[in-house]
Amino acid sequence: MTEQQFIPNLYTKTVETGKITWESPSNIALVKYWGKKNDQIPENPSISFTLTDCKTITTLYYSKKENNDEFSFEVFLDNEKKGDFKPKIETFFKRIEVYLPFLKEYHFKIETTNTFPHSSGIASSASGMSALALCLMSLEKQLIDNMDENYFNKKASFLARLGSGSACRSVEGDLVVWGKHENIEGSSDLFGIKYPYKVHGNFRNYQDTILLVDKGEKQVSSTVGHNLMHNHPFAEERFKQAQQNLSTLMGIIESGDLNSFIEIVESEALTLHAMMMTSMPYFILMKPNTLEIINKIWAFRKETGLHVGFTLDAGANVHMLYPEKEMKPILEFINNELVAYIENAHYIVDKIGLGASQIII
Ligand code: DP6
Repeated sequence: MTEQQFIPNLYTKTVETGKITWESPSNIALVKYWGKKNDQIPENPSISFTLTDCKTITTLYYSKKENNDEFSFEVFLDNEKKGDFKPKIETFFKRIEVYLPFLKEYHFKIETTNTFPHSSGIASSASGMSALALCLMSLEKQLIDNMDENYFNKKASFLARLGSGSACRSVEGDLVVWGKHENIEGSSDLFGIKYPYKVHGNFRNYQDTILLVDKGEKQVSSTVGHNLMHNHPFAEERFKQAQQNLSTLMGIIESGDLNSFIEIVESEALTLHAMMMTSMPYFILMKPNTLEIINKIWAFRKETGLHVGFTLDAGANVHMLYPEKEMKPILEFINNELVAYIENAHYIVDKIGLGASQIII
């Protein structure tokens, strides 16, 4: 598919007012997206687990307005008006207007809430932008005669990508690929697709326990970090490596080989942070406790033979990934040995999930 296919024909119906609610989960990348071209096109393909409990719930209220000169909207987070969210959404609306030409015809009230604490260091852009994109798609669906589910999901993911790259991987579950990979049929730089091949039973209900090492604001945003991949001395090799790692991971997803899974996923996480440390200007998002935890995980794994590995996103928090059947001893290990390294002993037990859903009230 091309961008052109997401530009609608003339709308055949009209709707005056109403509201739509979607909940959309966060996701955690196994092969990381780090580096992008213009228009949110990734430099390499990525693959992620969609989560279940870490999600954003967004209600979009819409009412037709008189003039169509400009965007008109207000944003609320947890019932509080959020003026500082407006520029990001304004930019998003500008980027997607050509694909949703009704945007200036309505006044919108966007009410949003996250199930995870706002200041948890968990990025809400993936779940937030995908939830908003899905609400807008539900509105568009009412303006035309027939929209099939496949097109709906693809376009929602396509729009979400224009809000935040990783958001395009939050529409569906349980494993989602975004970015063209020659061995993955249907993969595209424009939107995420559900991983189309066999997934071994070892990954069913795979767990992600998120240790909140640092709840503060990030010093360097992802967007700035992505841009530092332009002229980065290791960029080309990194983009090639991500392609290769995804190929290797495909075999692992089929065979269920958890040791090899851990090896690729941990290497991806450390490579992501290595890219940050070797950018110019360079920066470090891990904290001393991130490293303490990583070392503890390695020692625990060696001692017990359990299949717990870690990944990191663009921050200090540690995502511990492990199969459901090993949950009990791993949670004990977290409670006994790791809580000392996390802020207010705060961690979130989440797992792989099936994607966003509309809430009909
Ligand atoms: C490290 O999707 O937050 O989490 O497209 O600029 O909004 P923008 O960036 P964003 O980057 C996420 C980067 C990452 C890796 C990943 O999720 O693949």
